[in-house]
Amino acid sequence: MAKTHTSIVIFGASGDLTWRKLIPALYNNFKKGRLIECANVIGFARRSYTDESFRERLREGVEKFSPESFDVETWNEFSKMLHYFRGNLDHADDFAKLHNFLHELEISNANRLYYLATAPSFYASVAGFLGAAGMSKEDEDAGTWRRIIIEKPFGHDLASAQALNHAVHAAFEERQIYRIDHYLGKETSQNILFFRYANTIFEPIWNRRYVNNVQISVAESVDVGKRAGYYDKSGVLRDMFQNHLFQLLALVAMEAPASFDADAVRNEKAKVFQSIRPVDLNDTVRAQYEGYLQEEGVAPDSQTPTYAALKLFINNWRWQGVPFYLRSGKALKHKSSEIVIEFQRPPHLMFDLPKGRDITPNVLSICIQPDEGIQLRFEAKVPDSDQDMRSVNMDFEYEDFFDGASIPEAYERLLLEALDGDASLFTRSDEIEASWKIIDPIINGWTERSQPELATHKKGEWGPEESVELLARDGHQWRFGCAEHRLK
Ligand code: BG6
Repeated sequence: MAKTHTSIVIFGASGDLTWRKLIPALYNNFKKGRLIECANVIGFARRSYTDESFRERLREGVEKFSPESFDVETWNEFSKMLHYFRGNLDHADDFAKLHNFLHELEISNANRLYYLATAPSFYASVAGFLGAAGMSKEDEDAGTWRRIIIEKPFGHDLASAQALNHAVHAAFEERQIYRIDHYLGKETSQNILFFRYANTIFEPIWNRRYVNNVQISVAESVDVGKRAGYYDKSGVLRDMFQNHLFQLLALVAMEAPASFDADAVRNEKAKVFQSIRPVDLNDTVRAQYEGYLQEEGVAPDSQTPTYAALKLFINNWRWQGVPFYLRSGKALKHKSSEIVIEFQRPPHLMFDLPKGRDITPNVLSICIQPDEGIQLRFEAKVPDSDQDMRSVNMDFEYEDFFDGASIPEAYERLLLEALDGDASLFTRSDEIEASWKIIDPIINGWTERSQPELATHKKGEWGPEESVELLARDGHQWRFGCAEHRLK
């Protein structure tokens, strides 16, 4: 719950993120009674909005992106909190002016949450300007805080991430910095730790003795669309793996923290990244969907992968020798994010199965989206057969169990946590740097050694054949739990 007078300042307030995600998230929190004491939301951008025209534009965003919760009365109340400040991110003066503007708006001492929703090239300079204007300094006597939320991407390689950390640390202490990875704000990602550590039956088998392999798939059906200019310089490893897939990996693979405290949780996640063995290029697949080169903004000879699959290993007692297969891509058959834990086969099979039939290993699927839930697949005897068996499912679907409780957008939770000062759903500097240390050599290897070759796949498929082969080499296959019905 946000406490006494807080100003939320959004830099880059005329951009897409603000009207598509941030304001709808704040509006929904307001509607749920969670922002009552939060006094002001100030948009900072260069365009010449007035408060009125700014509010009008944001209202369209809420109506469009959160239609089910929009109502005029709540909006009218909420919109009183919204203000616009016209300023230039390059002008130090404008930060000093913003400082005064905020002082006038804030009735008494206020907390401040700065949100960097700008192009990444501004992150370091805006943090610097805030520091120089004295706007990052907390007032211990008044007990007010200053925090900064930084959007992704956090750097484009290790060196740039380190440089950015360095620049931001010059103005803010680590405890004031909240690096966003919206995957951590997803309800189903948050549930991973509850599933593992609020139950006793899973953790004893959550290790190399019982787990045969782990698969993390984040498939998107959309192509790069209008974002080709950014995407072509980035590619799928930077856009999806270094952050989202690696965060899911950490949640699945980490040891139990002693408490739910942000640093206790992040210490354990950081250890996972530090224990990942350097990835062998032979264990990687990179591909482009057909038609990518024709997208507007893509270089005609671009080698940027829109799809990748990796096999990696975690060098510790729990996971030694267990392959983790990760894949993600655009323009695939369906949108589906899922974590699959495939367990070992029984050590001895006493059943006399009909000829040609084999058993399927137990598979636990954690469905991140869109079919939010968890599914456990196990073998059962086919009724009225001698010894035949079939795989059946035990299903938990959010819809069924949490009556009427719709799953909130990730940004709703993340903004609340930042206002609350709980950074457990945000990435710490060491996590970011350790994850770039794994990604950089793969990208460099692909560029320098041109290995493996860039594969292609048709739009609307599940990826290239090479990705199937990556697992087939080990006698494995990509499994779909919750997304299985989408295969048909
Ligand atoms: C973003 C990436 O971080 O995540 C996008 O930049 C991607 O390319 C998006 O489409 C996926 O997020 P979600 O929540 O739709 O799975």
